Amino acid sequence: MLNGKGGVGRTTLTLNLAHCLQCTYPSSSVYVADLDVQGSSLAWARLAEETAFTVGVVKSRAQHDFHLFDTPPKLPENGLVPEADVYIIPTLLDAVSYVVFLKTMQLVRKKGLPHIIVANRFNSDRSEHRQRFAQLPPGALIVRDRAIFSSCYGYGETVFNRVGVRSSHAQQDIKAIARAVRGFDSRAWGDL
Ligand SMILES: Nc1ncnc2c1ncn2[C@@H]1O[C@H](COP(=O)(O)OP(=O)(O)O)[C@@H](O)[C@H]1O
Ligand SMILES: [Mg+2]
Repeated sequence: MLNGKGGVGRTTLTLNLAHCLQCTYPSSSVYVADLDVQGSSLAWARLAEETAFTVGVVKSRAQHDFHLFDTPPKLPENGLVPEADVYIIPTLLDAVSYVVFLKTMQLVRKKGLPHIIVANRFNSDRSEHRQRFAQLPPGALIVRDRAIFSSCYGYGETVFNRVGVRSSHAQQDIKAIARAVRGFDSRAWGDL
């Protein structure tokens, strides 16, 4: 996850995507590396009785099938981004977030990083959101503003711990990200 702005959903999307991958590929090892000094992913893991995947601080990707990085809210000053196969750029669609998103995209384009843009907390009732989403490059994904994402965090859960209509809509949003990630990976993934 990469974005210079805080509060855009890196932690939420990292944990939910990790759980999505673990549910879809139960025999694979999924690891979330919390690289943010605020330690929101680690704090989430402590809230959980047990987590479906591992959360830690290890950067080395060698040991796991899926290694997700929950990153801090700043762009690397030296322009050196952690190495990854694909970069997920979550952004909100308010004016302030959009400015930082454009800065993030400058870096992404300069480095030629393979990436997926996610418009997070999208609300189709808001013309501001609709207009800015239309300005995003084609292929940008949407994760809607859904209370279930924040309520799950407080219980050390993700939307993949829950059943019901609300959670299933939220799961679909996350699965779309997983499918997009699969498009960057030469390994055989099977159905999602
Ligand atoms: N799609 C969403 N719908 C509703 N709330 C969300 C969504 N994504 C994130 N949030 C909430 O927004 C806040 C910031 O999200 P977080 O994942 O901590 O961002 P970051 O890690 O980028 O700082 C949290 O309170 C989180 O619960
Ligand atoms: Mg965070």
